Amino acid sequence: MYAKKNQKVVVLATGGTIAGTATHASDHTGYTAGQLNVQQLLDAIPALSDALQGDALVCEQVVQLDSKDMDHATWQTLAQRCAHWLSQSDVRGIVITHGTDTLEETAWFLQMMLGPTKPVVLTCAMRPATALMPDGPQNLLDAITVARDAMVHGVLAVCAGRIHGARDVQKVHPYRLDAFSSGDAGPRGWVEQGRVRWADLGGWPMVHANAQQAFDRPVAQWPWVAVLHSHTNADPRQVHALVAAGVQGIVLAGTGNGTVHHSLLAALIQAQAQGVAVRLTTRCGEGQIVGQSADLQTAPLGLSVYKARISLMLTLMTSSLS
Ligand code: SIN
Repeated sequence: MYAKKNQKVVVLATGGTIAGTATHASDHTGYTAGQLNVQQLLDAIPALSDALQGDALVCEQVVQLDSKDMDHATWQTLAQRCAHWLSQSDVRGIVITHGTDTLEETAWFLQMMLGPTKPVVLTCAMRPATALMPDGPQNLLDAITVARDAMVHGVLAVCAGRIHGARDVQKVHPYRLDAFSSGDAGPRGWVEQGRVRWADLGGWPMVHANAQQAFDRPVAQWPWVAVLHSHTNADPRQVHALVAAGVQGIVLAGTGNGTVHHSLLAALIQAQAQGVAVRLTTRCGEGQIVGQSADLQTAPLGLSVYKARISLMLTLMTSSLS
């Protein structure tokens, strides 16, 4: 959700591995942090203008250091620069590039100092900018995406596609790319293919529009929605059999990001053409389908196959029987 158009996103750079360089591309540990400037970090992101969607970028090099050497004077300067930019009405949010080692401390300090009603998003990298596959450009792009999301306020950290809150974020691993955790609290959300998915869906309507129908209608007349799974050698005859028996909806747990065995897919497309409502979910126990299949409609809210069956059954209450 992006409320106003043509706003500004401010990037404040402080150094860290995200701006680090090594002599060899294979060297992930023997590098020097805080070498590249903020413009060089931004230049390494080809998709940046797409992500900005008309917003302008303003960048500032606040300091250039290894965050193990972070100090109170730098914190004061950083808080002042944040306060300056946050007070501008056309600033949508701030991204701060930071070393991973003390990122969690800076996050909490800024939260306590600013209590921002706009997003202040810290990001970082575990590999230097010279690595064969640096993680910094994607993390920075993701952080900019989060800073533009109108749902956000407060200080957050974005690393490896996960969004953490300032209170809970902690560096938990000295080497791997996904080095941060929010512990028991879990991440506040995820950035997937340029879209933010929030863990808290409190804003979603949780009473189905057809709930009253389910109170009033005899259960024998509730729509029949079946669950199927895509798997090795999946057999289309189960779809044909269900359709012949009068099924009104099918929810399919596809493989991975909602892919479907080709023989099952052909049968499901045929079933749809015959008026059966088909919804797609994933067999994966975590995450949800990113993007839309050309052939089948994805179930809403990232629901599991079993919960998607309930939602589809309620959705069909109006159309199936009267
Ligand atoms: C630093 O914290 O500045 C160096 C380590 C890192 O960014 O991963």
